[in-house]
Amino acid sequence: MKYIVTGGAGFIGSHIVEELSRQEHETVIFDNLFSGKMENIQPFLKEGNVSFVQGSVTDLPLLKKIFEGADGIFHEGAIASVPRSIANPLATNEANVTGTLNVLDAARNCGVRKVLFASSSSVYGNTPTLPKREDMTPNPLSPYAVSKLTGEHYLKVFSEVYGLKTLSLRYFNVFGPRQDPKSEYAAVIPKFITKILNHESPTIYGDGGQTRDFTYVKDVVQANIRAMESDAEGVFNVAYCKRIDLNELATLIMDIIGITVPMLYEPARTGDVRDSLADIRRAQEAFGYAPEYTVKTGLKETIAWYRK
Ligand SMILES: NC(=O)c1ccc[n+]([C@@H]2O[C@H](COP(=O)([O-])OP(=O)(O)OC[C@H]3O[C@@H](n4cnc5c(N)ncnc54)[C@H](O)[C@@H]3O)[C@@H](O)[C@H]2O)c1
Repeated sequence: MKYIVTGGAGFIGSHIVEELSRQEHETVIFDNLFSGKMENIQPFLKEGNVSFVQGSVTDLPLLKKIFEGADGIFHEGAIASVPRSIANPLATNEANVTGTLNVLDAARNCGVRKVLFASSSSVYGNTPTLPKREDMTPNPLSPYAVSKLTGEHYLKVFSEVYGLKTLSLRYFNVFGPRQDPKSEYAAVIPKFITKILNHESPTIYGDGGQTRDFTYVKDVVQANIRAMESDAEGVFNVAYCKRIDLNELATLIMDIIGITVPMLYEPARTGDVRDSLADIRRAQEAFGYAPEYTVKTGLKETIAWYRK
């Protein structure tokens, strides 16, 4: 098979590339290196079946060239941050909404079989009902969440109007090796791990009682591969299906690392949701998704990587 991974030089995209390469598929990484890094993909580029094209999903003519002969698209490329979207909503809209529309249009023009879209649990917003099910009314609280929900709608419409197979995966707080700890927009787990390894105090926004359904990146890869290989279409949660709060998370990381530091508490950030937990039955039933990593087993692999 020939697959394209947009955003393939990023954290999640590079793990999808790693698995496609292991399965010996022809794989093209398409990324503008906005937040992705060559070092994430260098080892896979040495394999003969993986190549890299630097470009933006906002460049439709280039997408049409690259997608020629592709069987499927893993569309991970995006400005992947709630606070970044609050700082610059137009840039997020351009990359995430116009970019996704371009990917779909190029895919239908090139006769691609299926497009998978990296959506997000943020589309649910702060609705109190847990666990989150795909048939709940979305309530986006940030430009980022709006961009992901809009992308989902475009996928559905391209399936109905043009017959392109499409599927959106709503990822819940993904973590693992290669996740960037340095940017001011970095996610909580890489920030906590790198701070604690340096004997520094990590910052928690709010009281630390907010909960998340943390999902190890290899389970996200499994969901992507199974979803691509199936005929399923629609919107699916991808998560581990248990939640822990940030105070518990920090304690768990300190236990695994063997270093204890006090936490710093700052005011809660706008656009952040309080609680998050997924119902994953739809993905289990439609394409056999079965998460294999607890937060603890995922953290052990992740911490080992950051130690290196
Ligand atoms: N990490 C999570 O917990 C999480 C949760 C929900 C959804 N997602 C989604 O999963 C996808 C991957 O996220 P990630 O955590 O790996 O983030 P990431 O920032 O590491 O990866 C995003 C990649 O997209 C690339 N990119 C950005 N703008 C682009 C453009 N215009 N054209 C081409 N490439 C572009 C970046 O350079 C980067 O390599 C994103 O779509 C994100 O919104 C991630």
